[in-house]
Amino acid sequence: MKKVFVTRQIAEEALQILMQNAKVTVHSGDLPPEKNEIIEQVKDAQGLVTLLTDQIDAEIINHGKQLIVISNVAVGYDNIDVETATRRGIYVTNTPGVLDDATADLAFTLLLAVARRIPEADSFVRTGQWKGWDPNLLLGSDLKDKTLGIIGLGRIGSEIAKRAKCFKMKIIYYQPQRDPEKEKSVGAKYASLKELLSKSDFISLHVPLTSETKDLIGKKELNQMKKTAYLINTSRGPVVDEQALYQALVEGKIRGAALDVFDQEPISADNPLLKLKNVVLTPHIGSATLETRTRMAVLAAQNTVKALNNETPPHLINPKVLEYKKNPNSK
Ligand code: DGY
Repeated sequence: MKKVFVTRQIAEEALQILMQNAKVTVHSGDLPPEKNEIIEQVKDAQGLVTLLTDQIDAEIINHGKQLIVISNVAVGYDNIDVETATRRGIYVTNTPGVLDDATADLAFTLLLAVARRIPEADSFVRTGQWKGWDPNLLLGSDLKDKTLGIIGLGRIGSEIAKRAKCFKMKIIYYQPQRDPEKEKSVGAKYASLKELLSKSDFISLHVPLTSETKDLIGKKELNQMKKTAYLINTSRGPVVDEQALYQALVEGKIRGAALDVFDQEPISADNPLLKLKNVVLTPHIGSATLETRTRMAVLAAQNTVKALNNETPPHLINPKVLEYKKNPNSK
C-alpha cells in the first residue's frame, strides 16, 4: 500500500479520503514538523500533503525517492521548490478556487477595520478610556466614493472587487496583463501601477509571491501613495518591503495598513509594527473558516489520490512534469 505523510492535522473528511487509498501518517502537535521529521517520513512515502508553513526544499524532495505527489493545502505554493520537484517527475498541486470568498471576506474585513479603527476602538473601550460621546473621537474614513486599487484581479481580487461595489467604492486594478472581460464583469478600470498607487485610497494586494512580486511595494511605491491611503495585504508578506512600510507608517507617508501576512511568520515579539496604532494585524487567517479549510483539505486529498492512482491530478501547478514523466531521461 502506498504511504502518505500529512504534515499537520487536517479535516477528518480529507484524512478519510486519504486513508481509503493509502497508509496515512499524520504529524501531531500544534507546530509544523521539523525538517528532519519530514525527511524521515518522506523517505518511504509516495504522497506528501503539506501546509504553507512547510518549506519543502530540494533536500527534502531528494530524500523522497518514491515521491509521486506533493499536495499543498493552500493556493500559494512559494513554500515548495517546484523546479526540483518537476525535474524529479513529482506532481505538485494546490487548492485554488475554494478559498476565494473566505480570503476576500478577510481582506475586506481588514479594510473596514483599519478604515474605521476597530482594534483601536475596541481597546479604547476595554481599557476604560471611554469617558463619553465625543464628536471627534476615533474618526475614520468613509468607503463610499473612495477608490480601491486592487493589485492582481484574479479569483480573490475579483471577489474583493464585488464586495467593494456594494460599499459604493470605485475600483481600479493593476496586473501585468490586462483582462478586459474580468474588468467588465466586476466593474474595474485598468491602471498602470504608478497610476494605481497615486489614485487609490485603499490598496489591496492579491498576487502570488514570485521573484517578480517580491518587494513589489517598497519605499518608492509607498512614496507614490496618497498620504491618506491604506494598504491591505492578505497575499504574502514579502510582497511588501516591511521595513519600508514601517517607515512610511511612522513618517505619515500613508495613513494605515492592515496585514494578515508577514516577512517572518509568526512575527517576532520585537517587530516594531506591533507598536503602531495605525496598523491592524492578523495571524495569516485569510482562509481560516471551518468550511473553507475543510474544502481545501478535501481538495488536497483528492489531488493526492488522483496522483497516487497514476492519473494527472486536477490542480496541477507544474504541468511541465508530464514531459519529465514521459521522458525520465530528461531529469
Ligand atoms: C493560501 O492558500 O495560500 C492562503 O494563504 C492560506 O490561508
